Amino acid sequence: MLFLKILLLLKIVHCRYDENLLLTRLLDGYRLEFHKSTDCPLTEELGRTLFELDPLNEQAVPNSCVRYVEDGFAKYNSMVRPVANFSQALDVAMELTLLQIIELNERDQYLMTSMMYSFNWTDTYLTWRPSMNGGVDKIVIAPSKIWTPDILLYQRFRLGVNNSLIQDGFDSKFASNIECYSNGACLWLPPAIIQSSCEVDMTFFPFDTQECVMKFGSWSYTKNYLNIMINNPTNAIVGGGQKGEILIDPAQYIKSTEWEIVGKECMLSETLYECCPNYYQDITYKLKLKRYVFYPTLTLVLPCVMTAMLIVLTFVLPPDAGEKVGLNITILLAMVVFMDQLSQQTPPMPSSLPVIGQFFVASMIIIAVSMFSTIFCLKLHHTQGREARQMPKWVRFLLLDIMPIVLFIHPPPDPPVDLDEENAKQDLIEFSGNSEFYFIYKELKFISDRMREQDNDGSYEDEWKYAALVLDRACAWLFLGGLSISFLATICSAPGIFYSIESH
Ligand SMILES: *[C@@H]1O[C@H](CO)[C@@H](O)[C@H](O)[C@H]1NC(C)=O
Ligand SMILES: *[C@@H]1O[C@H](CO)[C@@H](O)[C@H](O)[C@H]1NC(C)=O
Ligand SMILES: *[C@@H]1O[C@H](CO)[C@@H](O)[C@H](O)[C@H]1NC(C)=O
Repeated sequence: MLFLKILLLLKIVHCRYDENLLLTRLLDGYRLEFHKSTDCPLTEELGRTLFELDPLNEQAVPNSCVRYVEDGFAKYNSMVRPVANFSQALDVAMELTLLQIIELNERDQYLMTSMMYSFNWTDTYLTWRPSMNGGVDKIVIAPSKIWTPDILLYQRFRLGVNNSLIQDGFDSKFASNIECYSNGACLWLPPAIIQSSCEVDMTFFPFDTQECVMKFGSWSYTKNYLNIMINNPTNAIVGGGQKGEILIDPAQYIKSTEWEIVGKECMLSETLYECCPNYYQDITYKLKLKRYVFYPTLTLVLPCVMTAMLIVLTFVLPPDAGEKVGLNITILLAMVVFMDQLSQQTPPMPSSLPVIGQFFVASMIIIAVSMFSTIFCLKLHHTQGREARQMPKWVRFLLLDIMPIVLFIHPPPDPPVDLDEENAKQDLIEFSGNSEFYFIYKELKFISDRMREQDNDGSYEDEWKYAALVLDRACAWLFLGGLSISFLATICSAPGIFYSIESH
């Protein structure tokens, strides 16, 4: 009984150290070798051969025929590629899982994402017989202790302390532990915040689709040492040309409020440079993002278009209200504010303005030009007194005869009667009465002539006012047409707009 108890205690103590013992054996210079003990059923020669073929096969070579021996060269070295034969390439399969799109910064041109890498490979030095190690068939080990693939993102950026762009040290993976199984299969899933540079094309903002490229490759090994593979490829090609995609786990993915993912493929490519005989491999992940158009349309495009359309109202406003110029300037200022808002969101583009920016500029030019015509119309309207002479023939023909018909305006006021003719007629009247009456008649005629003259001036003023009205109306149509054309041109020059609007 006591003997049994002691045995049990020994077993428990032993169990507590199983994992520790295994790690010590794996990392600290122990090596499995064939040992012909008395329990071993195999002959020395056969056993050695079978052991050479597969040291882990417990059926072929029972545990009683092997033992751990101390060997300084068997100490695990995390700098050594874990392959049995130096000329052998180590296969490393890679996968990328997108957890969240944190930010696509248009101004500084980078994409910040939260990702989880997945690397798996086989480490020939981390193999053991679970039955010899208390049944432990999986260990969890820190990445600093064993060899890890140096697959890094080629272009990555980090915002520095004062928002200045500085290039960061490359590896931002969180050093999460690696799981290794008794057959040497190792699985490493480090999460990382990846800041990759991304060329942002704002031409069709806010109806744009951006493609951000993340290129990963081994920093120090060529294909003949480290063979990168895509885990679960979508096509059958092995090696370069292999295709796959970025994984998205719906349970873990946090949806972006700004971007919809429309593409997420990746491709493995191999390049042969002139310098070196070996292939350099890289995996290129392409994340295609489409902007959700609803919000920017509501906050930027719609107010801008509507404000621009208000310019037509300045021509409908009666000149006597005295607000024409004020309204015009207010609209111009509003457009400048929208333009400023747009420029805060978009990077300064070297060659072209976003299409929406082109519309803003066109509208601003139209508004500025309408300012000129507004003031000209006001000047026409307020033509008074001495300036209100009879119009030149062609102006009269254009503004009072043709335009009202074209624009469906009520006809112009009657032209004033010519004074000189009437005077001539009246002068014909002979006065045969006495000279006192004649004197009174002359005085009266003077007064009535004066009044008629004033009347006549007024009548010309009316004509000028009417001309201003006609011009106002013509401008209203002209600028409405101009704005509509520039708006339609904007929409038509952005091929993705209809598609974007449809798919939302
Ligand atoms: C290593 O591999 C090469 C070719 O694959 C082979 O010729 C060589 O014999 C191997 N060496 C050992 C020690 O297994
Ligand atoms: C990586 O793991 C997958 C299964 O998850 C397996 O099919 C593949 O062979 C492994 N690749 C390597 C290089 O170990
Ligand atoms: C950041 O700005 C602070 C003051 O605003 C300055 O003292 C510091 O040196 C700056 N740091 C860098 C890295 O430029």
